[in-house]
Amino acid sequence: MKSTGRCRAHTNIALIKYWGKRNEELFLPMNSSLSLTLDAFYTDTEVVLDDDLDSDEFYLDNTKQGDKETQKITEFLNLFRNLANIETKACVKSYNHVPTAAGLASSASAFSALAGAMNQAVGLNLDLKTLSTFARQGSGSATRSVYGGFVEWSMGEDDKSSTSHAVPVDDAKWDIGMVVIAVNTGRKKLSSRVGMKQTIETSPFYSSWVETATSDLTKMKEAIKGHDFITLGEITESNGMKMHATMLGAFPPISYWEPDSVKAIQKVKEIRETGIPCYVTMDAGPNVKVLCQQSDMKKIEELLLEDFNREQIIPSTVGEGIKLLNASEWNY
Ligand code: DP6
Repeated sequence: MKSTGRCRAHTNIALIKYWGKRNEELFLPMNSSLSLTLDAFYTDTEVVLDDDLDSDEFYLDNTKQGDKETQKITEFLNLFRNLANIETKACVKSYNHVPTAAGLASSASAFSALAGAMNQAVGLNLDLKTLSTFARQGSGSATRSVYGGFVEWSMGEDDKSSTSHAVPVDDAKWDIGMVVIAVNTGRKKLSSRVGMKQTIETSPFYSSWVETATSDLTKMKEAIKGHDFITLGEITESNGMKMHATMLGAFPPISYWEPDSVKAIQKVKEIRETGIPCYVTMDAGPNVKVLCQQSDMKKIEELLLEDFNREQIIPSTVGEGIKLLNASEWNY
């Protein structure tokens, strides 16, 4: 017997960052975080549970993945299989939709789409809140990709897996968007998982980071409630910089920046000085993301083109939450 689930999930960019786990096994974060889901980057995933399979199989963009990658998928699918009390193996096919130059293939959209597809294949009918706790256990940032718009990942109160989940904050149907400046699209040398652990263990700034991220989140939720783009942007930029400063304090120091990251940050500052509100944020890589108003996006792109190539500049508007795909929407 075979049973199929198919799901699309978009990636998200944190405006208040997650950088550290208080429980590595359950992926419980040190602080709550808040993101914006983007429509330009997404993953489509199909799960086929098949009694005839002896082990799980995993294909990414039509390429069969090795044991290490497949093992990660198996462990993740086991969360669902254990709940449903089944042992059926699965064939998983994932397709990343990321403009080729972006290098932003993301574990956030990947595990969120996998959670949605597996939920359907098993027929568990888990709600979005529960799905976000499952997605979390694939990759922390995936917790937030279950929903669209502005999303908070609440850290939860104790060491119970179920209390740390995503909450939609606002559908972000505002005049808002993000321009990604792709500085370097190669694979990052230090994974976020390792980088955050090293930061917690060695950076003397870590406890201040958690305090400041917590108060930034409160202020950001106020800004979202008040529809205040400028405050939202200012907190975004400041929070991202504080995360990177905390990493620089680690031993050995961690920096994901490259010379062109600094060039991009400078350029955004110059654009802002001309009177266009726009703010940068960066994650565990050298690429720079510019939070801006959608109505200013064209102008910002033009100005960025003075210093960067066309293929380095990728605009995006707000993305929606996970969505099941039916057979006719599955064009692979
Ligand atoms: C800098 O979610 O990739 O993008 O939970 O270990 O899989 P794991 O890490 P991941 O880390 C994301 C870190 C970040 C900030 C954020 O998205 O909040």
